[in-house]
Amino acid sequence: MSRKLLLEHINVPGINTLEVYRQKGGYRAVEKALKTLTPEEIVEEVKKSGLRGRGGAGFPTGMKWSFLAKPEGVARYLVCNADESEPGTFKDRYLMTYIPHALIEGMIVSSFALGAKVSYIYVRGEMMPQIRILEKAIAEAKAAGWLGKNILGTGYDLELYVQPGGGAYICGEETALLESLEGKRGNPRIKPPFPAIAGLYGCPTVVNNVESIAAVVPIINDGGDEYAKIGIGRSTGTKLISASGNLVKPGVYEIELGLPVEEFIYSDEYCGGIANGKRLKATVAGGSSVPVLPANLTLKLANGEPRLMSYESLSEGGFATGTMLGSGGFIAFDEDQCIVRNTWNFSRFYHHESCGQCSPCREGTGWMEKVLHKIEHGHGTMEDVDLLWDIQRKIEGNTICPLGDAAAWPVASAIRHFRDEFEWHIKEPVKSQSQNYGIANY
Ligand code: NAI
Ligand code: SF4
Repeated sequence: MSRKLLLEHINVPGINTLEVYRQKGGYRAVEKALKTLTPEEIVEEVKKSGLRGRGGAGFPTGMKWSFLAKPEGVARYLVCNADESEPGTFKDRYLMTYIPHALIEGMIVSSFALGAKVSYIYVRGEMMPQIRILEKAIAEAKAAGWLGKNILGTGYDLELYVQPGGGAYICGEETALLESLEGKRGNPRIKPPFPAIAGLYGCPTVVNNVESIAAVVPIINDGGDEYAKIGIGRSTGTKLISASGNLVKPGVYEIELGLPVEEFIYSDEYCGGIANGKRLKATVAGGSSVPVLPANLTLKLANGEPRLMSYESLSEGGFATGTMLGSGGFIAFDEDQCIVRNTWNFSRFYHHESCGQCSPCREGTGWMEKVLHKIEHGHGTMEDVDLLWDIQRKIEGNTICPLGDAAAWPVASAIRHFRDEFEWHIKEPVKSQSQNYGIANY
């Protein structure tokens, strides 16, 4: 049984309220941090924990915090990225819905560590219920003296605001998020400078994912060293995984990093296997932005050893035989699913969400979508597969923000591992479409 640090009390009735959250030990980390630790000591604990950013990039959180510039007389900000929009990823929404105080507690401790006096939770615009839940929880916390002026009599002041996003996927990219928070169109900025140097209103800013901030609570309660004992290698701690697709038990699971992928998919503690007795065909392990892997490479490394749910093991073999943990959006496809159709579906998404600032992404995502549509709908040629390969290569690495790469990688990996399926669509357009849609072609 995996240890639970974030979801331990998920089934306790009323855990979304301050009263029950407190009964279960909530806000101990705030007391410990504000009364017994200095901001530098908190940063040190987070460094020791080995926590890596849970939004998708896996950048070491403590290192990011230590990069924060501290010029005299200039405000610093902590911004929580709750703009969760990655297809297949819904773990932050789950945490905010059921244990909102875990995020608020993490925000208070992290803001104190970073010297922020005003902090924001930027929530995806479509998540109105979660916005209301957070606002209610913040009001509760403020009324109880955990937020506002002179928290716990320590002299530390913190105002915490919830900002609804505008509903664009690109606003989850941290610099686009900051632009949006400043009231502008959410276009990504060129990095560097990183937000740690020039972020919100040009001031030093840390942008962290919801899960990363919530993980600071057990790190402070138990110590960074204890946290680092969980997991494997440089993948320390626990990770929330949003599991979806053709699974017996889709849902949000907290795993200890290092769990074998096979156990995650097939054991009753987690996903319970593939639904309807079907066989696993492929997975995307970390949200739609990461390469798709066929079943054999999902379960085993190229050398035959079990693949693990960790940053290193999932990316073992590079993109030739590996993928990425990303945001932990785990999607399973059974033997009846069509990789071409799915790739087209992802491409439509990225084309729609491209902000249009850079040509390779703006033009390339639309072009890939059109070619995939053509193949999927029975009008493709063999040259189209090579064309697709060529387009994605010209996008990757040539854009301002990672959306370009995110659009390219699913296409590249689908062709790399499932080229025969693309060719089948071209050679047998009627059969392949009949399988996907009945006879209908839309
Ligand atoms: P990144 O690798 O550029 O940056 C990661 C973090 O480290 C950022 O906060 C950045 O500011 C910081 N950083 C990196 N180098 C730094 C330096 N030298 N100095 C100071 N700070 C530094 O990746 P990015 O663009 O933040 O995230 C991309 C990931 O986001 C993708 O892997 C994707 O999986 C994920 N993603 C997640 C979504 C979700 O809904 N959870 C949606 C879309 C993408
Ligand atoms: Fe916009 Fe795409 Fe360029 Fe990112 S890669 S800045 S989404 S056009």
